[in-house]
Amino acid sequence: MNADDQKRAAGEAAAAFVEAGMTVGLGTGSTAAWFVKALAARKLDIVAVSTSLATAELAASLGIRLKELGEAKAIDLTVDGADEIGPALSLIKGGGAALLREKLVWEASKRCVVIADAAKRVPVLGKFPLPIEVVAFGHETTMLRICDALTECDLGVAPRLRMKDGAPVRTDGGNVIYDAACGRIEEPALLAAVLKSVTGVVDHGLFLDLADLALVGTADGVVSVE
Ligand code: 5RP
Repeated sequence: MNADDQKRAAGEAAAAFVEAGMTVGLGTGSTAAWFVKALAARKLDIVAVSTSLATAELAASLGIRLKELGEAKAIDLTVDGADEIGPALSLIKGGGAALLREKLVWEASKRCVVIADAAKRVPVLGKFPLPIEVVAFGHETTMLRICDALTECDLGVAPRLRMKDGAPVRTDGGNVIYDAACGRIEEPALLAAVLKSVTGVVDHGLFLDLADLALVGTADGVVSVE
């Protein structure tokens, strides 16, 4: 199985966890898209909350009924992808620039299942550059404060502003993203707290103590990791 087959298998396995009557959080990215397609194919009576405009568009096109997070208030199950899955289901997310809405939906969920291909599992987080979502106003100045925060965590890296077609990428909320190529994040909880204390940082892609289960597509089929 190639990576896309593994993503598809994980997405389809996760769709089997959904029951009629549930409110379901829909993640963002190519793996989450497989979940959304498999979920739509089951034609269950559910309502969904999307973590991005892109996923909302896909879900609506497949006939999935959507609600805003504020309307739904609580979510039974959220299924989403990840950029890295580390020890104790610690995650890096945000490669698709949806990390803020993803975290809002995850935190409102009773259960969160992360789906991924096998290459996403790592012994220590940090090879994938950590996305940090920053308010656009004065973001260059905020970046200097982020550098101080990273130095405090013994991570002497300069975050890079994420660009596309010659312009900074804007998130669904209108913010910008900096990616910090940390290498190895030895103390993710400390880094998470320090980054959140910087004014102008809206959130970061460290998802700690949020995932209940990972379904990982491998060459030998889908493996559950708790
Ligand atoms: C989007 C995310 C995605 O879940 C993450 O980037 C994984 O994407 P893919 O399933 O395409 O590999 O966090 O913000």
